[in-house]
Amino acid sequence: MDTRRITGQTKIMLLMADPVSHVVGTEAITAFMRAAGHDFVCVPVHVGARDLATAIQALRGFRNCVGSGVTIPHKIPVVPLLDELTPRARMIGSVNYVRRDADGKLTGDNVDGSGFVRGAMEAGIQPAGLRVLLLGAGGAGRSLAFALAEAGVAELVVSNRDHAKAVALVETVSAAYPGASVRTGEADATGFDMVVNATSLGMIGKDDGDPVDFATLSADMIVADIVMKPERTRLLQAAQAKGCRLLFGRQMMDGQLALARAFLGL
Ligand SMILES: NC(=O)c1ccc[n+]([C@@H]2O[C@H](COP(=O)([O-])OP(=O)(O)OC[C@H]3O[C@@H](n4cnc5c(N)ncnc54)[C@H](OP(=O)(O)O)[C@@H]3O)[C@@H](O)[C@H]2O)c1
Repeated sequence: MDTRRITGQTKIMLLMADPVSHVVGTEAITAFMRAAGHDFVCVPVHVGARDLATAIQALRGFRNCVGSGVTIPHKIPVVPLLDELTPRARMIGSVNYVRRDADGKLTGDNVDGSGFVRGAMEAGIQPAGLRVLLLGAGGAGRSLAFALAEAGVAELVVSNRDHAKAVALVETVSAAYPGASVRTGEADATGFDMVVNATSLGMIGKDDGDPVDFATLSADMIVADIVMKPERTRLLQAAQAKGCRLLFGRQMMDGQLALARAFLGL
């Protein structure tokens, strides 16, 4: 297949975002699907909050579209606009992939957290049995909390600037996984096996602090940062200097792609 060509045969996936300039996933998605043999392209589209419903309605009529990725700020607002949700997306309460069936029916899934777990496992890390400190209870943090509980971590502690959001997340994860040990806590890594930054701190342009006190990191820990730009965040640099095992945002992204491919029916 000539990967430079986009024709009427090409399967199109949109990626709706606002702003759109920060989007880095479209090339990785396109490369992944093409490597799997699909005549496929993923295209970023700049959709403002006001136009989301119109864009989703239009997607129903775009017959050569397999669906759309959905990112900031649309992951939650898109939920009521869809026909169906996977059980995982319903539980998490947000969507990052929408599948368009041949009849225009739209189904939402959320593979953020499962992608993280898959990426970790592909790197040889089994989350089951680990004591995990999760920093962040935003959109991605929520998805990670459910996926880590599902993966069987020994303990999950959620720390978030807005404490009420951490409390609410812990309550919903505990309700969904009654056997899991889940609680809120401080951004202090002491005693954990794995520390995961799911805040946006460390992103290029987000210089307003660090997600955890680096002095509390130690060499026996796995330190993961889901931020993708820069690839090696301040947290990962500090963790590397301590001799920790590292997991990069890109590994979570790659973990999501195989899940997205299956969900989109490709
Ligand atoms: N690698 C991947 O595949 C992947 C996938 C999805 C997202 N991401 C990345 O993950 C990051 C978070 O995305 P998201 O969708 O979860 O964003 P979000 O819903 O806006 O959540 C942002 C999170 O960061 C926290 N935060 C923001 N500014 C802070 C500050 N100054 N001090 C302390 N905490 C702060 C927020 O805390 P509050 O609740 O207190 O505001 C919240 O927990 C972004 O960098 C995104 O690019 C990566």
